[in-house]
Amino acid sequence: MTLDFLGTLQRTQMCGELRPQDAGQQVVVMGWVNRRRDHGNLIFLDVRDRSGLIQVVLDKELSASAHSRGEAARPEFVVAATGTVRRRAAGLENPNMATGEIEVVASELLLLNDAKTPPFSPAEDAIANEEVRLKYRYLDLRRVEMQKNFRIRHEVARAIRNYLSDEGFLEIETPFMTRSTPEGARDYLVPSRVHPGSFYALPQSPQIFKQILMVSGFDKYFQIARCFRDEDLRADRQPEFTQIDLEMTFPQQELIFKTVEGFLTAAFKTAGITLEIPFVHMTYDEAIRRYGIDKPDMRLPAMVDLTETVTNELRDSLKIEALLPVLGFVIPSAGSLSGTQRRGLVDEIRKYFGECGLDFLDVARLRTNQAFAPLASAIESQMIATPNDLLIVITPKLGTPERWNHDPQWIYKKVGGLRLELARKFADKHGLYTQTGSAADYKFCWVTDFPMYEWDEEAKTWQAAHHPFTSPHEEDIKAGRLTSDKGAVRALAYDIVLNGTELGSGSIRIHRKDVQAEIFRSLGMDEAEQKARFGFFLDALEYGTPPHGGIALGLDRIVMILAGAASLREVIAFPKTARAIDLMVDAPTPVSEQQMKELSLRTVVRS
Ligand code: AMO
Repeated sequence: MTLDFLGTLQRTQMCGELRPQDAGQQVVVMGWVNRRRDHGNLIFLDVRDRSGLIQVVLDKELSASAHSRGEAARPEFVVAATGTVRRRAAGLENPNMATGEIEVVASELLLLNDAKTPPFSPAEDAIANEEVRLKYRYLDLRRVEMQKNFRIRHEVARAIRNYLSDEGFLEIETPFMTRSTPEGARDYLVPSRVHPGSFYALPQSPQIFKQILMVSGFDKYFQIARCFRDEDLRADRQPEFTQIDLEMTFPQQELIFKTVEGFLTAAFKTAGITLEIPFVHMTYDEAIRRYGIDKPDMRLPAMVDLTETVTNELRDSLKIEALLPVLGFVIPSAGSLSGTQRRGLVDEIRKYFGECGLDFLDVARLRTNQAFAPLASAIESQMIATPNDLLIVITPKLGTPERWNHDPQWIYKKVGGLRLELARKFADKHGLYTQTGSAADYKFCWVTDFPMYEWDEEAKTWQAAHHPFTSPHEEDIKAGRLTSDKGAVRALAYDIVLNGTELGSGSIRIHRKDVQAEIFRSLGMDEAEQKARFGFFLDALEYGTPPHGGIALGLDRIVMILAGAASLREVIAFPKTARAIDLMVDAPTPVSEQQMKELSLRTVVRS
């Protein structure tokens, strides 16, 4: 088969843009053969470009040459069709296609390129094998769904860029080749040829640079910034990802919240969703008490504290530990279980708790006992459950291990974890997370007043819970808690959470050198280490640093949720696998001896 040259032929329309009012027009469309149906003297090609599909009719009687090329055409061949738009005959319309009322009757068809039989068809909706999709990413990206995801991504980024520009933020780029930034993951390192034995680090975020831009007087900065982190990968974590990163001078927290709510509203509007702002606020402590986690999923009801409902007498007779809370939660619509299912569920819950001293309280059983029936009623009414709902109540056993003493929030976190696990278990069956296409699908909240420090049990040291540039509450500094009671120090740090996913984190920063040095010291960094790692930054703080603060949101995560995708890999054009491999280009790879020599590197393989 010989391929055709394009010559002077120019495309006139995109395939998916044609409509019935174009009937009678002469057009030239170009694209890939999505499907081909051969009915002898009539051949139908669905031709695809990024705008959609159009049916091209090759009628032997009208154009023998177009028809014979149509015979040779196969899926994924690249074609150009010249012809006339016409309405399809009554009854032959396809309501599933945007162009389903019309077709192009070809006077000429050019075969611009052929294609091997692809390992999977881009015409299919879902392809099971993700490795094959990633290896042949160019075919995968041709799929309608992927094209849609990247359109969403583009529109979201554009709306945010426009919004922030209109609000007076300047977009400023910061370096990729820099030194380590303390965001808590491992760095990707780049060896220097000119300075043997020295390395640049790829930025885990532009954190220090954006703060320095505030010292430099830029007032409002933003960047749609690529970040690099060598960490364990999950569905919502990639080694390379993109942040909407911003920083402002002289802000109160609320001004940052308002800015973020503004750009998220603009971003969601591109998908036809009108968000309700301001978003819900809750402190970190409240989030833990009500949801058992610092990223509350508010699509389902919060946990209920039933401690007061269970009287002391009842605690005694039910052998419930008096010093610990009794917590309950509801999984909507999941209440009708058979006896066997119920017993299985209770076993699962007991397995989840293991030996930690928590147990399932069977409220249905309580009902059958006269002494406990009022308690069952009180619990049910407090949890506002309907008979359709599954009601879970967890009690601490008498003499529960002392563990909670070290972490008073432990019991909330444990029960909150169960809440999420059971919600996941019942989600599909009961449509718990079914999207309605409205703003109600998106439950945003701000979580504020995070603790400043976290105790690292392994290293037996305090670590910065956010990053070490975060300002503690002024009151906590004044009260001397930085030295006397680290566990009680609150940070001016906040997260924005959507449907249980952390979308972004930020803080009001430390702008005084004495406080910054004190925080570094309290994290176990002596003066020499401070100077070696952050000397340049401490210096900058000494030249008139204004109060400042900011935030960074994961662009990939926003798009993932908006696209209803299960993983970031659906919204990043060329992502890595869970083992940090790019299957298409096959990276990482060893490099040549010569390159290693130039970089003064040698590989030592440890077993
Ligand atoms: P943080 O480390 O919390 O804060 O990151 C901010 C947001 O970036 C996204 N994110 C990721 N997305 C995909 N893959 C990853 N591996 C990944 N890691 C983080 C998340 C997260 O909420 N410099 C601070 C921000 C600041 O204080 O202004 C920072 O980077 O959505």
